[in-house]
Amino acid sequence: METDYLWWRDGIIYQIYPRSFADSNGDGIGDLQGIIGKLDYLEGLGIDAIWLSPIYPSPDIDFGYDVADYTAIDPKFGSMSDFEFLVKEAKKRKIHMVLDLVLNHTSDQHPWFIESTKSTTNPYHDWYLWMDPSPGGKPPNNWQAIFGGSAWTYDPELDQYYYHMFYEEQPDVNWRNPDVRKAMLDVFRFWLKKGVDGFRLDVFNMYFKHPDFPDNPRKIGIRPFDQQKHIYDCSQPEMIPLLADIRGILDKHKESYAVGETFLADPQQTAGYCGKDKLHAAFNFDFANNRWHPKRFLQSALSWYSALADDAWPNNFLSNHDMKRTATRYCFGEDDRRAKVALAMLLTLKGTPFIYYGEEIGMRDIPIRKKSDVKDRIGKIFWPLHKGRDGCRAPMQWSHDIHAGFSQADPWLPVHKNYTERNVTQQSTDPGSMLNFFKAVVSIRKAHPALQKGDFVPLDHQSPHILSFLREYGDDVILVVLNFSIRNLDYALPEGHWIALLNEKKNYQSSINLAPYQVEILQKLPD
Ligand code: GLC
Ligand code: CA
Repeated sequence: METDYLWWRDGIIYQIYPRSFADSNGDGIGDLQGIIGKLDYLEGLGIDAIWLSPIYPSPDIDFGYDVADYTAIDPKFGSMSDFEFLVKEAKKRKIHMVLDLVLNHTSDQHPWFIESTKSTTNPYHDWYLWMDPSPGGKPPNNWQAIFGGSAWTYDPELDQYYYHMFYEEQPDVNWRNPDVRKAMLDVFRFWLKKGVDGFRLDVFNMYFKHPDFPDNPRKIGIRPFDQQKHIYDCSQPEMIPLLADIRGILDKHKESYAVGETFLADPQQTAGYCGKDKLHAAFNFDFANNRWHPKRFLQSALSWYSALADDAWPNNFLSNHDMKRTATRYCFGEDDRRAKVALAMLLTLKGTPFIYYGEEIGMRDIPIRKKSDVKDRIGKIFWPLHKGRDGCRAPMQWSHDIHAGFSQADPWLPVHKNYTERNVTQQSTDPGSMLNFFKAVVSIRKAHPALQKGDFVPLDHQSPHILSFLREYGDDVILVVLNFSIRNLDYALPEGHWIALLNEKKNYQSSINLAPYQVEILQKLPD
């Protein structure tokens, strides 16, 4: 039996968007008690950790990603004692807790920012990025906010501009100020003391901007934001020593973890933030952005692995709260076959898999039809070019009861119409469901160190529609064969005797026939 199981390397991390997971008190918004009520479900899935999108007090301009207090719980989600109870109950089930830290910016309702606007001599003034106007009263430079417009908002009282990469209600803090740095590092300490095991760092490579605030050079692009090379407003070298400080704090706690959301960065840059004295992991968006093609996925996995230093461990994801869901991107209608192939790939490739809530039942995005229905403000700003991120944030589909069993009241976002068929209760009893498929692959993964920490050996595809690879850890050798197409295909097995683990437990030698979208996971038998 393996004894050196490490949750964040060998396990599975499950992302919960708390507003949409389970509502315990009938206000239409998910909450901590709701999550507590679903811990047995999560344990049954076989996941090792939950990453909670922000649960701190927030005016919800960006649904929690505008934080007004880093060390409290928003009352709409519950209380600090609910949170402590959640951590304790999760621990009992060997589920680790990963919190989302949004430290690039605060809400404009954060007391630090409110103080900073009072006068240019206020001690908090320098906690944010305030600058005098350019000649003629113009913004200090050409930097743009990713959520639209200039990144600079003018305050007539102070006759200064403050900087924000996102909405104007999300002012960026001044990480060069030692008091800010200390306050932010104390946030890590606070939650570690509460028993939190890890953190997801929101847009961490934006913390520092170039100290001289030069104009960004221009390039071709659609929106003004895309018409600039973002070389001065993000990914500054000062981030590297800061990561060492963060890591120093984390390493005082056993098996702690940090995964960074790298923004506007390619896999090479992203990998540069991972490893010794840096983060444990960062997100490789390249992988999730692939078209439905085995070669593409393989190429991005391989380039991710080779970009990472030897002391860094890869991770992979296909969905999160900012993008269209996996099943929405790849499936036709309610046909789950591609979603199963994608899930199997995610769970068997080398790297910690991240699962977005509902991915295990193949949830689809809700359609966004009218601008007036949009809740995510960027959907209103960029309508109809970009309809916002409400689609992937709809309530979890638990049952065919009213509001999909998510809430007794009208949920904050509508439930997908397919909930009467597509829900946890229904799929639990259907042997062919996504949910049971997910659980089956997870239990194979759990039983095989090769699938957790094994080496990765890509194999000759034999067909452009097949992805196949070996995972190897000592004597444990697993072969994964994924048919990405609707064709029946023959696949010649590598030498040896193989036993199928997922489908009928048959022995194979020489070749197998793959049905459309078939997933095969086979174990090599000792000679
Ligand atoms: C990250 C979050 C996103 C948020 C943004 C600003 O990209 O994932 O949801 O809007 O940061 O905090
Ligand atoms: Ca609630």
